[in-house]
Amino acid sequence: MNIEWYPGHMTKARRMMQDSLKLVDMVIELVDARLPLSSRNPDIDTLAKGKERLIILNKADMADPAVNKLWLKYYEDKGIPAITADSRNTSDIRKAKDMVLEAHAEKKARDLKRGIKNRPVRAMIAGIPNVGKSTFINSFAGKASAKTGNRPGVTKGAQWISVRKDIMLLDTPGLLWPKFDDQEIGKRLAIAGSINDNILDMSELAADLLIILKEAYPGVILDKYGVAEDIPLEDMLTGIAEARKCIAKEGLPDIDKAARLIIDDFRVVRLGRISLERPELK
Ligand code: G4P
Repeated sequence: MNIEWYPGHMTKARRMMQDSLKLVDMVIELVDARLPLSSRNPDIDTLAKGKERLIILNKADMADPAVNKLWLKYYEDKGIPAITADSRNTSDIRKAKDMVLEAHAEKKARDLKRGIKNRPVRAMIAGIPNVGKSTFINSFAGKASAKTGNRPGVTKGAQWISVRKDIMLLDTPGLLWPKFDDQEIGKRLAIAGSINDNILDMSELAADLLIILKEAYPGVILDKYGVAEDIPLEDMLTGIAEARKCIAKEGLPDIDKAARLIIDDFRVVRLGRISLERPELK
């Protein structure tokens, strides 16, 4: 995680993705359910063209349940199979397996007509850093899974995980870059912790989060920090610093410390289940 993306890194990631795509029927794309648009790779629709698709709105346990439903509807309207998931939850993972088979059903029927029987669906995971690819692969593959490279009908050289007899998973995820061209997207990714904190102005980031909170989740700031929501942002930050005893040496409010505390509260769901994006705000 926290990869600094340069054109060279992007070219390499794209090439690796293109190589992997030759081997699979399906791309399982992971996005962060709290910011499904900002956490998507901008080129994935082009890259994965012609492949079966499944979108996992991951970390759904951290996102607003009502907004999760809106996103499912959004993808349903687009005709793209999607589910919400907590990658660490077994029943969500079971649901993901069912969805993989469902998304592959048409191709399987076509294969059968051509006399191809019992060919497992071959899938790969793809997504930007920190969306939960490794966690998902570990849960999806499970303890009983075996790595297998040399089974009939399975491409040599690639490492596969046999998830069950009808699903094979490429063992390395397709690591992709996020969108960079939009400041708002960068901010949301940063709030969620998908961009290196060292290069960020935390008080600016906290101010952005406070704006989202007071607009989309009125009452949360007052409840959590005892600070009014109808005052200027700087005053809110100062108020939160004072309320949380973030005081610098000279006795002045330590805004940077308060900002980190707010961001951290969001990241560990201490502010409740919050979504940073909803479909109609696109
Ligand atoms: P990546 O391979 O896409 O880069 O992501 P990775 O699986 O490493 O997951 C990034 C962080 O997100 C990890 O937390 C992981 O535990 C957490 N995570 C992944 N999926 C989910 C999910 O569905 N729900 C929740 N709540 N968390 C999820 P971490 O703090 O960086 O590591 P760890 O302390 O959990 O090991």
